[in-house]
Amino acid sequence: MSSTLAIHGGEPVRKTSFPSWPTWDESDVEAVADVVRSGHWGRLNGTRVAEFERAFAEFQGARYGLAVVNGSVSLRLALMALGIEAGDEVIVPPYTFLATAVAVIEANATPIFVDIDPETYCLDPAAFEAAITPRTRAVIPVHLGGQAADMDRIMAIAARHGIGVVEDAAHAHGGAYKGRGLGSIGDLGSFSFQASKNLTSGEGGAILTNSEDLDDKCRALHHCGRRKGGQWYEHPFLGSNYRLGEFQGALLLNQLKRLREQTERRNANGLYLNAALAAIPGLRPMARGRGETMHPYHLYVCRYDAAAWGVPRQRFVAALQAEGIPASEGYTVPLYRQGLFTERVFGPYTGYRQNRPDLDYTRVDCPACERASTTEGIWLSQSVLLGSQEDMDSIVAAVTKISAQRRTL
Ligand SMILES: Cc1ncc(COP(=O)(O)O)c(C=O)c1O
Repeated sequence: MSSTLAIHGGEPVRKTSFPSWPTWDESDVEAVADVVRSGHWGRLNGTRVAEFERAFAEFQGARYGLAVVNGSVSLRLALMALGIEAGDEVIVPPYTFLATAVAVIEANATPIFVDIDPETYCLDPAAFEAAITPRTRAVIPVHLGGQAADMDRIMAIAARHGIGVVEDAAHAHGGAYKGRGLGSIGDLGSFSFQASKNLTSGEGGAILTNSEDLDDKCRALHHCGRRKGGQWYEHPFLGSNYRLGEFQGALLLNQLKRLREQTERRNANGLYLNAALAAIPGLRPMARGRGETMHPYHLYVCRYDAAAWGVPRQRFVAALQAEGIPASEGYTVPLYRQGLFTERVFGPYTGYRQNRPDLDYTRVDCPACERASTTEGIWLSQSVLLGSQEDMDSIVAAVTKISAQRRTL
């Protein structure tokens, strides 16, 4: 193999691609075709969505499951089920996809950003507790990339202050914390089945809970405000149509059969990469052993030390990509720096002019998130982790090659 870096025109470490995503076979095609033939395409006269809800809730260890159109709506409905109102505050981490905070705005409440733990990139429990005010009604810990947030501490703090917990488990299908399924620990757990996710039907989402009351509320919210067992034109509650369709239900049911094996493979590959990459100066894998008994690695995240490498992260990632490793820089700014927040473009929501004239997101400063987004975080996507041990070795070989020539970068 050429020792010249591929970014300088040398031979790349890899010329073949990693496993593609989604994975499917004829059984997926048949599952969807069956729905077509049945003529029962919507959940109101079909069986697949309901069957999937039961199967997925059981898989994650929750009593109730509800499928909805996506993992943004699921967050919003979970907050609405908790009774969040205008003027309330909901604490969120800033190292997350936009949806976590937008769900708060669309639930008519105010997102309050709190820093992440630099060892896990998940919500820092101490910072969460310090940010609680009399207006705080809920917190949304995000299991970033499938890494479990510190749920024991978060649940204890929330209980002490009477605050609801909605787990954003959009990255955490198959994940477990101290043996408990992620998304089944808080008051409610929210999942996404969007195309990149570890369990997917292209689009889709779910809400899990152990509370019959919260499940009833979410069901009413997603089904035009209807009452369980009520009449078609009886709408005693607020709600709209966020129902998932039967094509997606059928696909999810079939895809679910692969999830355990795929999760175990990603977890094993993640541990393998951790051990190998920890030996390379200037790279630090995220902490393990903090309770995540199964890490689904929606993202494999590693920390880059620009000072040790002598070049910014962007250059290192470009060098990795040139070697055939599809790494990325992930979220490149803390969420609170997006114009949505700096300009408070909240449309009709939150009543911020009356409720929060003092709120100024340009003053938010979360140093761990700043580092993670601007200089430190490096991501590999979950499908890369579905590869073989040789695939993982090629990642290590590429990093080792670049490391050996870091002065030429
Ligand atoms: C952390 C997180 N939360 C919520 C969502 C929203 O899910 P969806 O795309 O299904 O609306 C995503 C999706 O990318 C996500 O990454």
